Amino acid sequence: MRILVAGGAGYIGSTLIPKLLERGYSVDVVDLFWFGNHLPSDVKIVHKDIFELTTEDLAGYQQVVFLAGLSNDPMAEFAPSKNFIFNAAAPAYLAYIAKKAKVKRYVYACSCSVYGYTVNELYDETRPAVSSYPYGISKLQGEQAVLSLMDQDFSVISLRKGTVCGYSPRMRLDLIINTMFMSAIKDGVITVNNPSIWRPILSVQDAASAYIRAIEAHEKVSGIYNVASGNYTVGEVGDMVKQAIAKELGTKVRLNIQHIQDYRNYKVSIAKAENVLSFHPQDDVRRIVLSLVENKARFEDWDNPLYYNISTLKELEAEAAQNGRRARAAIADGTPLGTEGRL
Ligand SMILES: NC(=O)c1ccc[n+]([C@@H]2O[C@H](COP(=O)([O-])OP(=O)(O)OC[C@H]3O[C@@H](n4cnc5c(N)ncnc54)[C@H](O)[C@@H]3O)[C@@H](O)[C@H]2O)c1
Repeated sequence: MRILVAGGAGYIGSTLIPKLLERGYSVDVVDLFWFGNHLPSDVKIVHKDIFELTTEDLAGYQQVVFLAGLSNDPMAEFAPSKNFIFNAAAPAYLAYIAKKAKVKRYVYACSCSVYGYTVNELYDETRPAVSSYPYGISKLQGEQAVLSLMDQDFSVISLRKGTVCGYSPRMRLDLIINTMFMSAIKDGVITVNNPSIWRPILSVQDAASAYIRAIEAHEKVSGIYNVASGNYTVGEVGDMVKQAIAKELGTKVRLNIQHIQDYRNYKVSIAKAENVLSFHPQDDVRRIVLSLVENKARFEDWDNPLYYNISTLKELEAEAAQNGRRARAAIADGTPLGTEGRL
């Protein structure tokens, strides 16, 4: 089976793709490589924006997986118009040309952020999704658009994922457990911004399993699935990370508890993913911390902007603005235009 993964060079993709190759799939990746390339060398790379793809480019793929876009709230709030284009329009356009190219299944990377602020009830996929912030709204718009294309010949599976954490070859340190781990090792402190709010946590290994289950689900399966390794309050996560670090590294860490209001609070039921996709998470907070301990030497350059999506986006925006100024000057001078930036 040939699979195209859009945004496959990112944090989730760089864990998922080696597993897909191991299972014998032929995998190509289309990506803008904002955070570099940490993929195995036998993956075919297409260095393009999703919007540059045509129906012809998608011919011959049986499945398309969407893992692209601006993948957190700070990015969405920094560049709201770009957020709606990359998170809502891009998955819609890609699904549209995939269906025209007779692709059989489209798997969409949604997020539990679509649930917004719930009052401590366990949410299944039938509960209202009512985020009022750009990231959550755009992820829901992307989901609604791709699901509207679903029919008996075009399966669409949307995975509403909890916050993904753990070690991945393309590393992120802006995700709850990874951030706590970094500040614990670097500064000896874990800051908990609001101990009472709920978050579904998903290890990146379990996330990859969920994509594999979706790709390998019966051809008639479609729909929305919550995916998480477990639901925890942020205070509980802080305690568990602290304990795991003490046990694994013998390091004593201080907790800094704050009470800052958050606009996201949700816990989700994964019963549908268990029943229909046979998704059974294997990890918990301790095992996520263990993956970080084991791979620590690979990301100890803690301040590398590539580990923080918002820092990289700001650099890319500055680069794009500089290129724009150069292009306008070149047009004014009548000199030929150079290449554009990475954004
Ligand atoms: N990481 C999480 O906690 C989490 C949770 C829920 C949902 N998600 C969703 O899962 C997906 C993947 O998340 P991630 O953490 O791997 O993200 P990431 O930021 O690590 O990777 C995104 C990748 O997409 C590429 N990209 C972005 N826009 C593109 C475009 N228009 N054309 C081509 N390539 C493009 C980037 O270069 C990058 O390699 C995202 O859609 C995100 O919204 C992530």
